[in-house]
Amino acid sequence: MNNIELSACLRRLVIGTNVKVPVVNGEYVNEINFDNAATTPPFFSVMRDIGDFAPWYSSVHRGTGYKSELSSNLYEQGRDIIKKFVHADHTRDVVIYTKNTTESINMLAYRLSQEEKKQIVISTEMEHLANDLPWRDKFQVEYVGIEESGKLSLYDLENKLLKYAGKVKLVTVTGASNVTGYINPIAKIATLAHQYGAQILVDGAQLVPHAPIDMKPYDSPEHIDYLVFSAHKMYAPFGIGVLIGPKRTFEKGEPVYKGGGDVRLVSHQFIEWDSPPAKDETGTPNVIGVVALITAIQTLNSIGMHVVHEYENNLINYAIEGLKNNPGIKLYCHCEKSEKRVSLISFSVQGINHNLVAEILSREAGIAVRNGLFCAHPYIEKLLKLSSEDLEYFHNNHDISLPGLVRMSLGLYNNYNEIDIFLEFLDKIVRNKNYYKEKYKKMQ
Ligand SMILES: Cc1ncc(COP(=O)(O)O)c(C=O)c1O
Repeated sequence: MNNIELSACLRRLVIGTNVKVPVVNGEYVNEINFDNAATTPPFFSVMRDIGDFAPWYSSVHRGTGYKSELSSNLYEQGRDIIKKFVHADHTRDVVIYTKNTTESINMLAYRLSQEEKKQIVISTEMEHLANDLPWRDKFQVEYVGIEESGKLSLYDLENKLLKYAGKVKLVTVTGASNVTGYINPIAKIATLAHQYGAQILVDGAQLVPHAPIDMKPYDSPEHIDYLVFSAHKMYAPFGIGVLIGPKRTFEKGEPVYKGGGDVRLVSHQFIEWDSPPAKDETGTPNVIGVVALITAIQTLNSIGMHVVHEYENNLINYAIEGLKNNPGIKLYCHCEKSEKRVSLISFSVQGINHNLVAEILSREAGIAVRNGLFCAHPYIEKLLKLSSEDLEYFHNNHDISLPGLVRMSLGLYNNYNEIDIFLEFLDKIVRNKNYYKEKYKKMQ
């Protein structure tokens, strides 16, 4: 299959690619969605399987009827399919269903904070806030610095591991940045962490939907101890997320959420918690979410994650080449083709605020991007070289607009034609920024 055929084939898998949206001149244009890092539209296969399953939908682990048994079986089988997808350990790891990556990390932070030993967690300056804030009130958090290019400094990581040798419980790091798209050298980071007796958590929110991932066997130095990700970023937006890790971690302690479904027996004298994963899945389970995720995984498997990664890589490199050639645009990364990345990139347009760029793209051309700080405030503050005085100023002045960037993030259904339209329109903004500034001032 050549690239054009592949592109057409991938596009047909996703709902909503031909939806027209209104633009400022009253016309309707095909929407271009370049905000896939936030969330993706569903696969057709996901909607079909949810529809097929709906007549069989019933309570999980709470009923004796045939439908309940079927729903429960599907829910449980989902765990094995997820494990296979990321090469988790079939017997030693447990898959806990959550709402999303944020909930997964909060749950793990809570669980690990219940253990007394080793109270340091090493996070990084590159993280989404979901992999930063949950640790702050429970651990002493040390942040691995970034280099000038925005990449993680492995030198700093090793220094920190050395400095706090024996005290670090976990190194927690994003698989891929939601700002620069960099894929972190997870194998090297895992090896370093293990060498110093720490475990590693990979935030897979931006990596799992776009590239193959392998948690590696327990006896490998590159083993990933914990992995988290969200289904809504991988074409299955039905409220399910995943936390994977060693079963024994979750055998200890109390669950963070307490209620029905997480206990074996309760009296007014004692509570006997269930074993994992049930212990951490309090309340009525989201079996529709699991059906959606499983179908999404099967669809991605049928394409092949290597194919997805390569296709999206070619697309983003094509976009980067176009953006690089525009002197009015500043990119925030090392942009060589050899760079390991997922399909997203952040930039600014010189002389024009990020809010306005995003607004113009949407209102004039029906192009959806994300702008702002992308829930990765400290990372973008570093990339923008903001001083602590600058930050104080923004902190104390609520009526001024915050700094930020514009992000384009691609899914497997985006194509070269959409990128051409985007590049052309962005160039129009660069060349006519004063016109647009004036126009939008009047409209506001
Ligand atoms: C790298 C990264 N981690 C975590 C999250 C949080 O994911 P969710 O909102 O699905 O919990 C995101 C969301 O954009 C992300 O990009």
